[in-house]
Amino acid sequence: MSKRADVALDGSVVEAGLNPLSISGIRRRLGTMAGEHQLFLFHEVESTNSTLSRLARSGAAEGAVVLAERQTAGRGRLGQPWFSPAGVNLYLSVLFRGPLALEDAPVFSLIAGLALTDAVRAAGASPAIKWPNDVLVSGRKIAGALIECAARGAEVDHLIVGVGVNLNVDLDVLARALGPAAASATSLRAATGREVHRDTFAADYLNALDEWARRYREEGPEPILTTWRERDILTGRQVEVCGGGQPFVGRVAGVDSHGRLIVQDAVGDRRLVTVEEIRPCD
Ligand code: BTN
Repeated sequence: MSKRADVALDGSVVEAGLNPLSISGIRRRLGTMAGEHQLFLFHEVESTNSTLSRLARSGAAEGAVVLAERQTAGRGRLGQPWFSPAGVNLYLSVLFRGPLALEDAPVFSLIAGLALTDAVRAAGASPAIKWPNDVLVSGRKIAGALIECAARGAEVDHLIVGVGVNLNVDLDVLARALGPAAASATSLRAATGREVHRDTFAADYLNALDEWARRYREEGPEPILTTWRERDILTGRQVEVCGGGQPFVGRVAGVDSHGRLIVQDAVGDRRLVTVEEIRPCD
């Protein structure tokens, strides 16, 4: 049983698609941590991360989940918009609270990537991760995560893990919305040839997120890093690092225990990358 009542704030979700999200459909597929999640389902929000941030500031408990059928101002990493059409995809944010040191917050990027790849595998595709948490199938992006953090000194007050997943969006709709960038994007339906059941995907993702977060709490970063390295496609590759000051080219040496990318530059210095954009050169 959930500790607090779930909230579906707008009955019109049912009109949003043939396969609308439903709180009961997600809840009955949740595992042992089901009781830790209060679910809020909206027809439309600007951004599930922003909505959850407001709920967090007014005292929402750890585990609160905001889902929406559509976002009007979905946000991606590096200030990019996130295309969020109604009724076809997944836009979902989860609230975590401390204790957590601020410098360890990027590990949640890796945790989100692991949980997303678990759910994508369960749906029948073979995903890989491009640091920090882009999920690719056959080299094209289907999902990403935006981690946002409120700090109190050197500690995390709360942290929001928001994911966007292209589940059933038509590729021609994606092409019209994204323009040339659509060439490097796809949907899970296109990858598997099957319509994706969104409640099932959402529950698979939440179950996997709960499990990786539990392991991190109980065992520290090692199990996260070990599995993440198996799914990572950047280590060993030549990349261009941009967007965080002077761009530079280097070879990816891996991730450190805080989730930062380690890139060896042209003179052999190991640089730690936190939020920049990474473009493979080879
Ligand atoms: C990325 O740039 O790859 C991250 C995309 C994250 C998008 C999701 S959709 C749900 C949540 N709400 C947002 O505004 N952004 C995240």
